[in-house]
Amino acid sequence: MKEPLITLEDLENLPLKSVKEYYLKHVNKGIPKFLSMLCLDVFEIKYAEGMYIYTKCGRKIYDFTGGFSVLNLGHNHPRILKARTRFNERKQMEIWKTFLSPYLAVLSRNIAAVSPGDLNYVFICNSGAEANEGALKLAEKYQGAGRKKIIYTDLSFHGKTHAAMSVSSCEPSRKFFKLLDNCISVPYGNWYAFEQIIKENSGEKSGTNDIIAIILEAVHAEGVIQPLTGYLKNIRRLCDEHNILMIIDEVLCGFGRTGKMFSFEHEEIIPDIFTVAKSLGGGKASVGAYISRDAIYNKAYGRLQDSMIHSSTFSGLGEECYTAIESINVLVEEGLVNNARDMGGYFFDRLNDLKDRNTGIIADVRGMGLLICIELKRPADKIVKMLKNISTTIQDFSDGFLTGIIVSLLLHRYNILVTPGPHEKRVIMIIPPLIVSRDEIDYFIDSIDELFSMSIPGMIKAYSSLKVRNMIS
Ligand SMILES: Cc1ncc(COP(=O)(O)O)c(C=O)c1O
Repeated sequence: MKEPLITLEDLENLPLKSVKEYYLKHVNKGIPKFLSMLCLDVFEIKYAEGMYIYTKCGRKIYDFTGGFSVLNLGHNHPRILKARTRFNERKQMEIWKTFLSPYLAVLSRNIAAVSPGDLNYVFICNSGAEANEGALKLAEKYQGAGRKKIIYTDLSFHGKTHAAMSVSSCEPSRKFFKLLDNCISVPYGNWYAFEQIIKENSGEKSGTNDIIAIILEAVHAEGVIQPLTGYLKNIRRLCDEHNILMIIDEVLCGFGRTGKMFSFEHEEIIPDIFTVAKSLGGGKASVGAYISRDAIYNKAYGRLQDSMIHSSTFSGLGEECYTAIESINVLVEEGLVNNARDMGGYFFDRLNDLKDRNTGIIADVRGMGLLICIELKRPADKIVKMLKNISTTIQDFSDGFLTGIIVSLLLHRYNILVTPGPHEKRVIMIIPPLIVSRDEIDYFIDSIDELFSMSIPGMIKAYSSLKVRNMIS
């Protein structure tokens, strides 16, 4: 052994300095740098509950990131904690490969119960990317030999595994990797382009083409880009006419985020397959799933010899399923989907007022339920130059530096946590837990209003003194 091991007891009192050191030496060199740029690396977290994160130095932080939609129920929902304790106190079995798991059966049955139409077959996995991989494989198996192509959109993120990345236009790192062959991008929101691609890929015999499926989000979550009404219906129609499968990614938007159980329900269409993850695990368990219509599942995997074509060791662990069962029950019993719709509408109206008062800073505000974003204006070159003197790292993220400054100041001055879009650097994402209240939204608006009243140079000044203070301490 190179060094003595650190125990759980030691970990309780581990200073932040050591956490940073271990990140730099053993986890990732860039993450501490990035967090430092946003001044997010200075807090030691004590615990988290509901909408709030509590720090050791006594701050109560409003979490408007909602763990990027993992925390639809908030942090450590009491019923989720209770479910997990109950499962463990009764020493329930975790791995069910050789017996029928009641947990997997009930979770799948309940997911089917909240899904429209005949979306009845559920495969449980551990992440969004894995759910999308599974969905693409299912579609390919369903279509059989002869069809080769997957259509995706030019505004898309479906995960970072190889196949998911091959259909994720917004992931810049994909240029470093070998992508799947036969994936074709079409403009998001333009169903004519999809129709054109079908024509280009049609055989001589009428009604034949070599497209397996199209994968897309019903609303592009990052940046909240909503296609025009009718887009999804037309994609559905074209898929039906040409026997192409329609896969919808609900990894971020699923389970109430947009004010409906699933975001495709705003257009009342039923996809052939859809994928979920993030909040399904109640903020505790890493659970994802793909859900397919009866006929799709039956043809692809319905026969005994095909039933284990797609599987994984950690698929359907007992406690993960148990937690996810409770997560859906809490969502429904607490009326959180309706709360997302109502609070989302209120938030959006108040943000629009804010926009009208801050036209020099805000370019646009977009929202669907509690999936909300503020798009910032691109600051003038003069300001970009000013920033060079403050932080060279922030300069690296040129388009994102104003976003970074606002994120830092909201946290340090007002105890409000938000994040920049992972790919859209001029966008501040607001994805609170679905339990958020009017008072919390009012606090957010009043705070950001006060911050913006400093104007851009004032915010830059405040950020630079914050950086200096953090460097000294
Ligand atoms: C829409 C969407 N799909 C898929 C994924 C990938 O999910 P995961 O990170 O769990 O693999 C994400 C992750 O942010 C997402 O936002």
